[in-house]
Parts: sequence; C-alpha cells; structure tokens
Amino acid sequence: TGTLEGATAKRGLWSSRLAFILAATGSAVGLGNIWKFPYITGENGGGAFVLVYLLCIAAVGIPIMMAEVMIGRRGGRSPVNSLRLIAERDKLNPAWRIVGIIGVLAAFLILSFYSVIGGWAVSYVGTAASGQLVGQTAESIGAIFSGLLSDPGTLLMWHTVFMALVMVVVARGVRSGLERAVSILMPGLFVLLLIVVGYAMTTGHFGQAVSFLFQPDFSKLTTSGVLVALGHAFFTLSLGMAIMMAYGSYLPKGISIAKTSITVSVMDTVVALLAGLAIFPIVFANGLEPGAGPGLIFQTLPLAFGQMPMGSLFGTLFFVLLIFAAWTSGISLLEPLVEWLEEQKGMNRTISTLAAGVACWLLGIASILSLNLWSDVTPLGMFSMFEGKTIFDLLDYLTANILLPLGGLLVAVFAGWFMSKQALENELSLSESGFKLWYNTLRFVTPVAVMVVFIYNLA
Ligand code: PHE
Ligand code: NA
Repeated sequence: TGTLEGATAKRGLWSSRLAFILAATGSAVGLGNIWKFPYITGENGGGAFVLVYLLCIAAVGIPIMMAEVMIGRRGGRSPVNSLRLIAERDKLNPAWRIVGIIGVLAAFLILSFYSVIGGWAVSYVGTAASGQLVGQTAESIGAIFSGLLSDPGTLLMWHTVFMALVMVVVARGVRSGLERAVSILMPGLFVLLLIVVGYAMTTGHFGQAVSFLFQPDFSKLTTSGVLVALGHAFFTLSLGMAIMMAYGSYLPKGISIAKTSITVSVMDTVVALLAGLAIFPIVFANGLEPGAGPGLIFQTLPLAFGQMPMGSLFGTLFFVLLIFAAWTSGISLLEPLVEWLEEQKGMNRTISTLAAGVACWLLGIASILSLNLWSDVTPLGMFSMFEGKTIFDLLDYLTANILLPLGGLLVAVFAGWFMSKQALENELSLSESGFKLWYNTLRFVTPVAVMVVFIYNLA
C-alpha cells in the first residue's frame, strides 16, 4: 500500500489553508446550528445548557477536532485506511480502524433524518417565496408547520429532492465548485441571520432572550441536558465520525492544525449563537414555548419574515441559504460510506453513491412516517432512557448522544494514549506549552468528561 508520504502526494492537496477551512466549515455549519441548537437550548432551559455546551466545544470539541485532522494528515488516506496505516506503523492493534467504521455507520444514520429536515427547509422556500408568510399569526404559522408534518407525501417529496441534491454532488466527485460557493454563501447566511437578529431587537423581547441564553440557571440543568450538550458539541462540529480525518488527509504539511481547527469551531459557534439571538426574541414576543421541539425555527422565523419589511424576499433567501448549509453538511455525511464502498467493495463511484444514497433515503422514510402515521411507534420504549422516543427521535439520540461521543472518545484515546508522542509533536508543531495543554486535555479531560456523562446517564 506504499508509504504514508507517497499516498499523500498521489491524492493531491488542498490548494490552501482556506480551501480546507471552507470544506470543514461547509460540513460543520448546517442544520445543527440553526435548527437543532436553538430547539435543544429551548428544551433544556437556556443559559446553563448553553454554558455547558460552550465548555464542551472548548474542552472536548476543539481538542478532538485537532486530533482527527492530525490523524488524517498523518495517514494521508481515507479514515479507515489512515487509522490502519498509523496503527501498522506504530505497531498498534489493527482493530483501531473500528473508529472509522463507527463513523461510517453514524454518518449514514444521521443523513437519513438530516435529509428529512433539509426537506422542510426546501419546502419553506416555496412558502416564503409565494408570500404566504405575510400577515400570519403564531397560530396560523403553527398550522402551516403541523400541516407539513402530517403529510407524508409532501415530506417524502422534499426529502427526495434534498437527497438527490446530495447524491448528485457526491456521485460527480467534484466538490470544488460547491466548496468555493461556501465562501460566498456562508457570509450570505451570516448577513441574513444578522438581519433577523436586527428585526428581533425591535420586538421588545431581545433582553429577555439574551438573559435566557446567557444567564445560567443551574436549577434547570439536568444530567440528560449535559449529555445533550456534549452530544451536540460533536454533532455541530461534525466530530466522532472521522469526517475531519478525511478532510485532514488533504491538508498540506506545515499548516497549523490548531489554528484551522479553532477557526472552524469559532465560526460554527458564532452561527449557532446568532441563530439563538434571532429566534428567542420572537419566541418570547409571540408567547411561544421555548421547548417547542424540532419545529421551533419553522414556527418562529416565518413569523419574523411575515412581519418585517421585504420579509418574503429575506425569507426566501434565508431558506435557500439554509439549504446550501445543509447540503454541504449532507455531502460530508454521504461521502464516507461511498468512499468505503469504493475502497472495500470495488464499486465505481456512481454505483456506490446510488447504493448508499438509496439506502439512506429508504431509512429516511421511517423518520417521515414517525412524524405522522407512526407517531405512536416507540421501538425501544421499554427502556426508560428511550421512553416515548419515535424512530426519528431514536436516530437523533443514538447518533448524537451515543455513537458520536463514543467515536470521539476512541479518537482521543488513540491519539492521546497510543500514537507516538513524537509523531503528535511533529504534526502539530505547537509551542511547548500549547502542546502540553492540548495533550493533557486530550488524554485526561476529554475521556473523563465523556465517560462521566455516559455513566451518569446510564445510571
Ligand atoms: N455539523 C453539521 C451541522 O451542524 C451536521 C453534521 C454532523 C455534518 C455530522 C456532518 C457530520 O449541521
Ligand atoms: Na454545526
């Protein structure tokens, strides 16, 4: 299989640090920031949850992102093979490639429901563009949303559209166009979020939203809330699934892994917090429930677009940009399985994209049905930790709160306790104190945090 260095040379490298940042940001910034972060923050009581989430990003997320990128660059292959090569070279157990396999599985499960939510965004482009949001009340907006959820045919249509968008790009294997688009679309999304935040400031409930988000009330924090915060840190940064490993394998030597990882994490966090600042003033101004669940942004943002000047235009643009953000994330979710099918099963790219995409699309149908016809079906409901969880809830819970933290834990242990320290120092080329900080966090803080949260939630 050749040397590590030879492998890297053959696969070509990112043209620049910027290209890596664009691809990684494209994967990171997505529905997790705008759809999921606000609604789990609402469900878990606000401030204290946000604080724990930020701690998880800093103490768990960033160190693991650095470790993933570092492993990818060192191995210079697809994740499973990078892990295998490094394990071979450092005389470690070849079973470490299981980390890559957990990642492929998690990414597949996530994409199946991610595409359904992406479909909601596609559907709202039409709703906003046709001017339907103008003059609506909280109730009528709520009715539009529940109408969508109760209609499996429409949900299936938009889920199919979203999945097709993802499959087309993955099948063609040319991401460069889309990645360059990220450099225009991400700032666009950012500006539109700022516009909604600006509108939110005029509702008279901005201060209430700021204290909801940033004034921790620890009496509202539960142990399951801590697990959700930790799981979301992985989900939002696309960690624990070897995706950053795959991207890292294209990163040229000599570029700072620490700086690039921190940049991506900060951008992701800023987008999530802006989404919170855009949404919660609208929630409070209209007497809505912060804990309304997965429909939160689809019940609040449309109200804002219905009331602000040029709202139909801004609303349409916003949902188009949200689709782009979700699209780049969706691509990064399908890619690992397609690559794995190509490498392990020798399928060509088109066939492997079709196989993986169609399988994912089929599983997505179960999520769609669990929003309406199967809303009473709770497959693991006999276990108290899964009580009342539909198929959709379960897929979300199992991936974000179990598989991703587990994958991340294994990455931390592999890099922190098994890889040669010399190799880590060479790859990261940090100052002595910087390296120590990262190394000790990865070896001790990260694994202990993940395990403690796990054990508390099992008990
Ligand atoms: N990070 C993406 C988001 O926040 C979702 C995602 C998770 C993408 C895992 C890739 C891998 O929306
Ligand atoms: Na994210």
